[in-house]
Amino acid sequence: MTGPSASVATAADWPEVAALRRRVFVEEQGVPAEIEQDAADATAVHALSRDLAGRVVATGRLLVGEGTATIGRMAADQEVRGRGHGAAVLAELHHQAVARGIRQIELHAQVTARGFYERAGYTAVGEEYLEAGIPHVTMVRRL
Ligand SMILES: CC(C)(COP(=O)(O)OP(=O)(O)OC[C@H]1O[C@@H](n2cnc3c(N)ncnc32)[C@H](O)[C@@H]1OP(=O)(O)O)[C@@H](O)C(=O)NCCC(=O)NCCS
Repeated sequence: MTGPSASVATAADWPEVAALRRRVFVEEQGVPAEIEQDAADATAVHALSRDLAGRVVATGRLLVGEGTATIGRMAADQEVRGRGHGAAVLAELHHQAVARGIRQIELHAQVTARGFYERAGYTAVGEEYLEAGIPHVTMVRRL
């Protein structure tokens, strides 16, 4: 059996992607709604993974800069965590980055998700810090 797959989100997917992010970051984690969605959403590459019923259950975004890029807003629905949807989204974002000539990703990982990113080849650099009141650590990975 193959595991979950992911794809780039289209404009039509946006309401479902935004609703998933709201459930995870605003309702579950208490991030203020006004900072959860930001201006970067308009230009980011958004990826998603669906369950067998076709519902969007994981998402994340890639922000492309000059020769480097950032991944953020990684979220999987609470009920599907640990089943590979998050890893599928991350792999799709890496694929999209490589297709744009990006050689390195830097991201701000929630400390509780550090192991998830380490499994995907990231290394933590520097000290922990607070963002939106949540402990984070910067992590990097070459593509
Ligand atoms: C972090 C998150 C996106 C991971 O999604 P997921 O679908 O549960 O992850 P996967 O099932 O694809 O896990 C991939 C691997 O990472 C591991 N993993 C997942 N979450 C982990 C965690 N928090 N700590 C350590 N390892 C973790 C899995 O066990 C799996 O390992 P394996 O390859 O050995 O089987 C999800 O837990 C989530 O939405 N958390 C709440 C929001 C959040 O913290 N987002 C990150 C913001 S930086």
